[in-house]
Amino acid sequence: MKIGILTGGGDCPGLNPVIRAVVRTADSRGMEVLGIQYGWKGLVEKIADKLDVRSVSGIIHRGGTILGTSRTNPYKDPKNFEALRVNWKALGLDAVVAVGGEDTLGVAAKLYKDGFKVVGVPKTIDNDLSGTDVTFGFDTAVNIAMEAIDRLHTTAESHRRIMVVEVMGRHAGWIALNSGIAGGADMILIPEVSIKMKEVLGVIKKRVERGKQFSIIVVAEGAKFDGNEVLVEKKLDEFGHVRLGGIGELLAKKIEENTGYETRVAVLGHIQRGGSATAFDRMLGTRFGYHAVHLVEQGKFGQMVALKGNDIVDIPLQTAVGSLKTVDPKFYQMAETFFG
Ligand code: F6P
Repeated sequence: MKIGILTGGGDCPGLNPVIRAVVRTADSRGMEVLGIQYGWKGLVEKIADKLDVRSVSGIIHRGGTILGTSRTNPYKDPKNFEALRVNWKALGLDAVVAVGGEDTLGVAAKLYKDGFKVVGVPKTIDNDLSGTDVTFGFDTAVNIAMEAIDRLHTTAESHRRIMVVEVMGRHAGWIALNSGIAGGADMILIPEVSIKMKEVLGVIKKRVERGKQFSIIVVAEGAKFDGNEVLVEKKLDEFGHVRLGGIGELLAKKIEENTGYETRVAVLGHIQRGGSATAFDRMLGTRFGYHAVHLVEQGKFGQMVALKGNDIVDIPLQTAVGSLKTVDPKFYQMAETFFG
């Protein structure tokens, strides 16, 4: 049996542990593995190489993905879809393990409907995929953001400044909320909850009254200002997403204008996605990879591995990509207790 493996969408700490686990598990069962490069692009353009135990040696601690990634959508152009179909056959693939987020797994779900043998592994630092308690990469991103917030605390306090920290999270505020609570942020803004400028100013004022002349405001890149997303550019990627960014800058400007306090912004950006994964993410990636090969072995195609409590289960890909897992308002209410 020959399995293909690909990683698509934004990279994420924990991808290499998944690749390693898939290759080593497949090897232990006498299966062959083909590493498809740059996500779905590798199948459209037939860029693939054999992976064996030696090729995945020494990668568990490495960030990024040894296979490379892209945001290619093979359904965008019928010619690309046809090329994928032809190459799938030419490469002799019996099944493909697709490691990705909403877009990559959305393609996997469609391919399954079109008769291809695919299983999915959920990946995203944003943690916004449904059907799994958590995605690997999220824990690493939260820890990086928390460490940054800790560092910004000391400089904010020394200078009596307001620090705005912009973190990733296109549609969901999981990173902002978790790193913000863990880092003791004074206010957290997320895409799911609409907040007015006067509430942000209210928190800063409350702190000043308590003798705290500095504040830390954490904001997710997808949080809205006056009901609108803040964009870097309007151009859409192949999955129809705009590039977000700038909410931190805008917020900092408005805070300074309204309070007279010196305000600075730190945009963490891709630092949250780079570098090696935490032990939790390496472990989750390894468990996901191991179970993905089992799904292939059992012929359970169209399924995605998922974490439920302490168990790895499988759910239909369609369920995972049907809707995004956004922050539960109850969780945000808890966070509000610690604002100010
Ligand atoms: O999907 C994960 C994510 O990290 C989002 O939070 C962010 O908007 C996006 O990727 C940015 O990705 P890139 O700059 O690589 O296109």
